[in-house]
Amino acid sequence: MLIESNADLSRLNTFCLQCTASQFGRFSSVAELLELWRASEASNLPMLPLGRGSNVLCPEHVEALIVQSAMTNVRLQRSTEQHAYVAVDAGVCWHDWVVASREYGFGLENLALIPGTVGAAPVQNIGAYGVEVGELIESVEFFQPSTGQLRRLNASECRFGYRDSIFKRELAGDAIIYRVVFRLERQFAPELSYGPLKELEDGLRSGQLTPAALVERVVEIRASKLPDPDKTPNVGSFFKNPVVPAALANQLQQQYPTMPVYPLADPEHCKLAAGWLIDQAGWKGKWLGPVAMHCQQALVMVSDGSASLADVWKLAAAVQDSVRQQFAVMLEPEPQLFGSYSRS
Ligand code: EPU
Repeated sequence: MLIESNADLSRLNTFCLQCTASQFGRFSSVAELLELWRASEASNLPMLPLGRGSNVLCPEHVEALIVQSAMTNVRLQRSTEQHAYVAVDAGVCWHDWVVASREYGFGLENLALIPGTVGAAPVQNIGAYGVEVGELIESVEFFQPSTGQLRRLNASECRFGYRDSIFKRELAGDAIIYRVVFRLERQFAPELSYGPLKELEDGLRSGQLTPAALVERVVEIRASKLPDPDKTPNVGSFFKNPVVPAALANQLQQQYPTMPVYPLADPEHCKLAAGWLIDQAGWKGKWLGPVAMHCQQALVMVSDGSASLADVWKLAAAVQDSVRQQFAVMLEPEPQLFGSYSRS
């Protein structure tokens, strides 16, 4: 097992931000992960995980031993009449797992083509088209550097929320996820309530809709508006959809009747579409130096490949200012600043 010093991470983050790390190593087994931990202890460096780097903003330098999983095993643990429990290693490419999952069960189809790895999926509770991964997770297995222990949390202990989990809070920077156990449905009963998927409801009723066809449709929808990180550097949605008091949402909707408003379980609050707000504020397709808000989905910041983190923050602040001035709504960035974790 090789530990690289002063490693270049600029090709290991999909925003292509220039970044170096004190040390970098890949692990192919839990034993190797423990070996890396001993090395991090010996060199007195914190140990931090990196997946595909598709949801992180990298600073110029991270003073840490960065570890990446090269474990790619998929194993059916057990099956009941309703569910299949499948243990998937953190290093598996997320989309490959979504495609392979139908051999075991269903439920992940709406999450097709999300960039990243299986190990990163629970951290921000990836979600799309009415499904969040936390709904299909049984447990998460991880190594905790601060205690040197291998741990396992069940789904309720992971405290999944909208783009949120314990791994972004108390365990931020202190959990190297090496395996996720999924609880898949044995019956194909997909969530089709999201706008563009509604058209598939007839096919579902007549028994024509297959899981593969649903995955294909989701891939088409995503590819039509979201830039491919392999071609255009980006980290997906740059801001979260803001949750605001219902009174503010009502007031704004009177002023802007076409504004999308999503009701929440809590009647006092509503969720707004950050992409719509940014679009209305005039930022869609607009460049500020080497970065822009994407011309087809204003919520996604893209780069020409030469941007620094300072350029990214400059555009983010300008967009936040415009949206705050026009709508009295503060947008919160969605990707995490790599290596700097606030333990809230
Ligand atoms: N909209 C505009 N202009 C834009 C972009 C969006 O008017 O430039 C409007 C759309 O017409 C729609 C609404 O805003 O009425 C919402 O847009 P969309 O359906 O594209 O979804 P989103 O809320 O912008 C969220 C997730 C995406 C996920 C989609 C589909 C967040 C932060 N983003 O985007 O997730 O794919 O819903 O479920 O929740 C990601 O997290 O990286 C991501 C891409």
